[in-house]
Amino acid sequence: MSERLRRRAVLAGIGTYLPEKIVSNAEMAERVDTSDEWITERTGIRQRHFAGRHETCAFMGTEAARGALATAGIVPENVGAIILATSTPDQAFPSTAVHVQGMLGAKNAFGFDISAACSGFIYGLGIAEAMLRAGQANHILVIGSEVYSRILNFADRGTCVLFGDGAGAVLLSARDVAEDGPGILSTHLHSDGTLTDILYVDGAVGQPDKPGHLVMNGREVFRHAVTLLASAVNEALAANDLTAKDIDWLVPHQANRRIIDGVGRKLGLPQERVVVTVDQHANTSAASIPLALAQAINDGRIKPGQLVLLEALGGGLTWGSALLRM
Ligand code: UT7
Repeated sequence: MSERLRRRAVLAGIGTYLPEKIVSNAEMAERVDTSDEWITERTGIRQRHFAGRHETCAFMGTEAARGALATAGIVPENVGAIILATSTPDQAFPSTAVHVQGMLGAKNAFGFDISAACSGFIYGLGIAEAMLRAGQANHILVIGSEVYSRILNFADRGTCVLFGDGAGAVLLSARDVAEDGPGILSTHLHSDGTLTDILYVDGAVGQPDKPGHLVMNGREVFRHAVTLLASAVNEALAANDLTAKDIDWLVPHQANRRIIDGVGRKLGLPQERVVVTVDQHANTSAASIPLALAQAINDGRIKPGQLVLLEALGGGLTWGSALLRM
């Protein structure tokens, strides 16, 4: 008797874009009252990329998407949907996803943006996975693209040193696979709307004043992050009848090395199985997970068949996880 197959969202391609301009901690220290030592010790960040004028959210998202399509061997006409996670869109509308659609020539797709701050990529995976399994599309681009340098308050040293710009994209394809075959095994999404005041942007195009700046109570976010991320990881493990030992790689949102290490310790995951790029990219919000995932796939650490757990937390608060077999 042939084995029963199930429809899954399989990661078929991945691409990234990082702005040309790299800004070191020492260069940040020329601009604000900080030091390389403080930033490195408290966050693990050593440098970040800052976008030039032409490197908009749509431009970077398109470049990352081109990479995802090329590695998947899929032409733009075959993309059914484009889901783009960002807090720094080119315009309030049309969505940045639709701009990306136009630049790619993905004429048979529909596109929309999602707003879930640093958890945006995980939210995008959750939505795309459900749509692929429901048969609403066969190939979906999920993109995280951010230009936080445009919303940073360079008079606030407590936040401006923490973020960077960049984009990452994956192409998810619906495939009928065996139980132990590849694909997204679970996604879990959460938010807590009583915590909107600890990480936010103090303005928007819908506000009477003006587009604003990022504001954060770092200590409060930190306190919630380790607990909520560890519980998100445990939730994913329990839902899949797994323990931390079964996970080949944890690819966390890259906000702060101390948060990443704290979650790893809580779960008993050795550092060698945790992908860290916060030192090179700083916190790129919705782009941080695909940027880290791409690096570990491209350098050969993440291999076909392995179990990879993604987790993120951000403004909202929003948080969640996605478990996938490569
Ligand atoms: O993407 C998801 C959202 N973001 C996060 O997950 C970030 C969560 N929070 C954090 O990562 C940390 O709370 C920070 C990195 C933001 C701050 O680290 P901390 O260890 O919590 O530092 P702190 O805010 O308690 O500040 C300690 C000291 C303060 O000086 P005093 O009051 O002790 O004299 C700050 O004024 O460090 C000072 N400080 C700085 N000094 C040099 C704050 N920012 C800087 C800076 N350079 N850039």
